[in-house]
Amino acid sequence: MTEPQSPRRILEFLAAAGVDMIVGDEPVNRMQPPPPLPERQAEAQPGRAAPDVPAPVQAPVSLRVAPTAPDDAIMQARLQARSAASLEELATIMAAFDGCALKATASRLVFADGIPQARVMIIGEAPGREEDETGRPFVGRAGQLLDKMLKAIGLDRSSVYIANVVPWRPPGNRTPTPQEVAICLPFIHRQIELAAPDLLLTMGAPATQNLTGRKDGILRLRGQWFEVDVAARTIPTLATLHPAYLLRQPGQKALAWRDLRALKARLAAE
Ligand code: URA
Repeated sequence: MTEPQSPRRILEFLAAAGVDMIVGDEPVNRMQPPPPLPERQAEAQPGRAAPDVPAPVQAPVSLRVAPTAPDDAIMQARLQARSAASLEELATIMAAFDGCALKATASRLVFADGIPQARVMIIGEAPGREEDETGRPFVGRAGQLLDKMLKAIGLDRSSVYIANVVPWRPPGNRTPTPQEVAICLPFIHRQIELAAPDLLLTMGAPATQNLTGRKDGILRLRGQWFEVDVAARTIPTLATLHPAYLLRQPGQKALAWRDLRALKARLAAE
C-alpha cells in the first residue's frame, strides 16, 4: 500500500517540478471529461411524457490558454507588430495582445531595459521570476552576471538595449515551446527594427537559434557572427553563452569573455 504523502513532501515535489505560483484557489483536473448533460427527468407518474425542459447550456471547461489558434495568433502578432510606429506603441500593443498563452500565467509583460538608441541590443530567451516581478529583463542572478560581463568591456545598461525573444515568463522558468516562440517572434523582430541597433548579441541557444535560424547547439554557435535580416536591414549578430548557463558552468566563462572581447573590437571598428 502506498504511504499517504505529507503536505511538505507534496510541496517539495511541486517545487522540484517547477511549480512556483498559484493560479487558482481550487485544483482543476483538466484531464477529466466534462460531466454529461443532466438527463431529463421523466415525471414520476407512469405513462406521462417528460416535460419539455430545455437542455442546459454546458459551461466550457475552463482552460488557461489563449483563445486564438496558433496560426491565427502568429498572423495577429505579425499584423499588430507591423502596426507599431514606435517602441512605446509596440509595448502597448504587446501588453494588450492575448494570442500567447504565457500571458495568462505571467504577472506582466517584460518589454525591455537599457536605452533604445544603444548601438548594441542584447537578446535573451524569456523572463524569469525576478523579471516577471519587476517588468525588467535580466535583473535576477543571471542579470547580475550579465552586468559584470558588460562592465568588463566598458558597457552598462545605459549603453545597451536588452530584450527577450519571449516577453512573458514561462511557468516555472521552463523553456518556451516552439509555438510560443513562433507567436512572439514578430514582436521581437519589430522591436529590433524599431531600435535599429548596429549589432545584436544573442545569449543562449533559444535566442540564437530563433533569430539566426541555425539549429546547432550553442557551444558550436557561440563566438560566430551571423547576419540577421530585419525588415530592410542586415544586422551583424554575435552568439554567446547565456549567463544562467555560466552560473551553472563557471568553467565556460572564458569562452563568453572571448565573445565579449570580439563584440568590443567590432564596436570599435564599425
Ligand atoms: N534569462 C533570460 O533569458 N532573460 C531574462 O530576462 C532573464 C533571464
